[in-house]
Amino acid sequence: MLSYRHAFHAGNFADVLKHSVLTLVLEYMTRKDKGFTYIDSHSGAGMYSLHDEYAQKTGEYKEGIAKIITKNNNKDCPESLMPYLDLIKDLSPDQNELTVYPGSPGIAKQLLRRQDSAHLFELHPTDIQHLTDYCQRWRKSHIKQSDGYQGVLGLVPPPSRRGVVLIDPPYELKEDYTKAVRTIIKAYDKFATGTYILWYPVVTRERIDTMETEFTRSHVKNLLQVEFCQQADSDEYGMTGTGLFIVNPHWQLKSQLDDILPYLKTNLGKEHSRFILKQLIAE
Ligand SMILES: C[S@@+](CC[C@H](N)C(=O)[O-])C[C@H]1O[C@@H](n2cnc3c(N)ncnc32)[C@H](O)[C@@H]1O
Repeated sequence: MLSYRHAFHAGNFADVLKHSVLTLVLEYMTRKDKGFTYIDSHSGAGMYSLHDEYAQKTGEYKEGIAKIITKNNNKDCPESLMPYLDLIKDLSPDQNELTVYPGSPGIAKQLLRRQDSAHLFELHPTDIQHLTDYCQRWRKSHIKQSDGYQGVLGLVPPPSRRGVVLIDPPYELKEDYTKAVRTIIKAYDKFATGTYILWYPVVTRERIDTMETEFTRSHVKNLLQVEFCQQADSDEYGMTGTGLFIVNPHWQLKSQLDDILPYLKTNLGKEHSRFILKQLIAE
């Protein structure tokens, strides 16, 4: 089943949290000269137009990135959010109007250097075509139309022993919840020093509890969990919140998120919005 298209959701509140963390993680990795490998198990199309029929149909970006990106240089915005906002602004040809929004490969393409490489997996026939076109001149990108979970396991540890893995499934299939966690646990066995980012939607709270339990029963160490719920948990309203499990985050990430989360709550929250930031597993 491949009905999910990220074009409908690009720039929504979940992308804001996920991509601001991804930006901070990748930026941190570029502080050392030594190259690293970025692996994106579920890449999507790479870049999205906010003027096309998909974005306009749902208008989700209007409740996400559009609410926090402003023309006045985001004066009240926490410093930790600025690398992400600057990156988004730089991509729009007219900096006064937000016309495009990057997917995770688009963010990586902006931040990775000549010595870094990217492995991008995507299954959807249309999105793999967009992704291939988008990455055409990106010399150290490797794009594959194959299963991203298997792809991750086949690539760790990377030769440089420096790597970031993003696992961002559509959760169309319920098995994605366990498969995503188990892929990280298996990958960690082979590459315990890698940084792993797993995105999840809060649709049913029990599923998140199960993911947490599976992680805490594993031998994975140093796992930070961040969650931003736009509204209270509910079994009726689809995705009410979004979160990330981050294994081996850089040491400043927790304090960077401490700054970002209240800002997201104020600017993107609805009734009963809240956030969680916890070290789920100690170092
Ligand atoms: C949530 S979207 C990815 C968004 C992207 N990571 C971003 O942040 O912009 C999930 C993508 O995974 C693709 N997909 C679904 N199952 C997959 C699999 N087993 N392996 C690789 N890609 C898959 C879908 O076609 C969809 O484009």
